[in-house]
Amino acid sequence: MLSIIAVSIFTWLRVVAAADFFYKGHDLSSLRVSEVSGTTYYDGAKGGQQRAAEDILADGGMNTVRLRLWVNPRDSGNQGDAYGTAYTLDLAKRFHAKGQRIYLDFHFSDTWADPGKQGIPRKWPKELDPLASTLRKYVASTLGHFKAAGVPIAIVALGNEIRPGMLWPVGKANPGQNGSFKNLSVLWKAAREGVSDAVAAGLKKPEVMIHIDNGWDSQLQQNWFAGLTASGVVTTKDWDVIGLSFYPFYNTRATFANLATSMRNLATKYNKPIHVAETDYPAECTGKYKAKPQMSEPSIPSNVGGQTQWVQKTIQTVKAVPNGLGQGIFYWEPTWTNNTGLGSACEDAILFASKWSGSKAAATSRTSVNMFK
Ligand SMILES: *[C@@H]1O[C@H](CO)[C@@H](O)[C@H](O)[C@H]1NC(C)=O
Ligand SMILES: *[C@@H]1O[C@H](CO)[C@@H](O)[C@H](O)[C@H]1NC(C)=O
Ligand SMILES: *[C@@H]1O[C@H](CO)[C@@H](O)[C@H](O)[C@H]1NC(C)=O
Repeated sequence: MLSIIAVSIFTWLRVVAAADFFYKGHDLSSLRVSEVSGTTYYDGAKGGQQRAAEDILADGGMNTVRLRLWVNPRDSGNQGDAYGTAYTLDLAKRFHAKGQRIYLDFHFSDTWADPGKQGIPRKWPKELDPLASTLRKYVASTLGHFKAAGVPIAIVALGNEIRPGMLWPVGKANPGQNGSFKNLSVLWKAAREGVSDAVAAGLKKPEVMIHIDNGWDSQLQQNWFAGLTASGVVTTKDWDVIGLSFYPFYNTRATFANLATSMRNLATKYNKPIHVAETDYPAECTGKYKAKPQMSEPSIPSNVGGQTQWVQKTIQTVKAVPNGLGQGIFYWEPTWTNNTGLGSACEDAILFASKWSGSKAAATSRTSVNMFK
């Protein structure tokens, strides 16, 4: 009896603690790239005064910054070191100094890793065992750099949108086939051990995230986590939180109702906090350059007001996850003036409107910077 009471109090405390802090984040990985190449940010609400983009977004309710991390960006033919460890650590220090929590998004690649590509870093081994030990050391040493710089990490995602696995071809996985997760589970576990190594060396333990795309697809999510854990190498104790991507323009089934079902089923099965790790919504989508996509929630307009509506309805959906397990949302790259489509067929999904003069941009915040208020 006593132990039952103790357990329920413990569960209740955990639920309350989980519900305490709701992550409202922006992915600002490209902010420094934009600044260096000539973007200046202005606050549309403060008489148009020039301000740091993160200050404008913090006024709009941002409490966390998400940052992606590539292994050796130059090895993939990139000109600079953007998204490499030094670049990302600099940004993390800057945002930490301003009171933001940091969510570190490991891609385990020299370039973009997403469901379409998950390339092994050029200088890494291509065989499972040496690859796994390189990965483990890389995670431990990278997290060690953050520790040495005094930047705590709130959330660390081991891989970016790893639905079809990571570190291809070795770590390729197919959610329809449990057996195909074998190598992925060995690699993911190695990355997880890298986190433990860093913690053993004094890092404050971040919440370990698994991040999958198509967050609205419940069957996919169920199959995926069953596949990952099928061999027993990775167990449910190994991860703390689940991150889902949820975009309006890739699939008409990406509805709030489907997202709610998918998150509820994950919460019931795994009892772990869940975040929408990536989302965005167009301020403009005319079909002028590319065929206009069909939106998953067609009642929401593709304009600045629609950006806020989409995000607020997504937040409501996350907050409705049972037991307070819906824990956060992250908007993808709202300051990226040079890439306003953000991977969609729409013209512009960022939260600033730019006036260009040659290669320089004056970017003024839209009212949608207040989407988290
Ligand atoms: C935009 O990208 C072009 C091509 O990479 C670059 O020359 C320019 O400096 C960039 N401008 C801004 C403001 O980001
Ligand atoms: C999984 O790893 C083993 C051992 O390195 C390798 O023989 C096999 O080809 C890998 N599977 C895939 C799909 O690459
Ligand atoms: C994968 O494994 C889980 C758990 O063992 C099982 O429920 C599920 O049916 C399996 N899926 C496939 C496609 O074999």
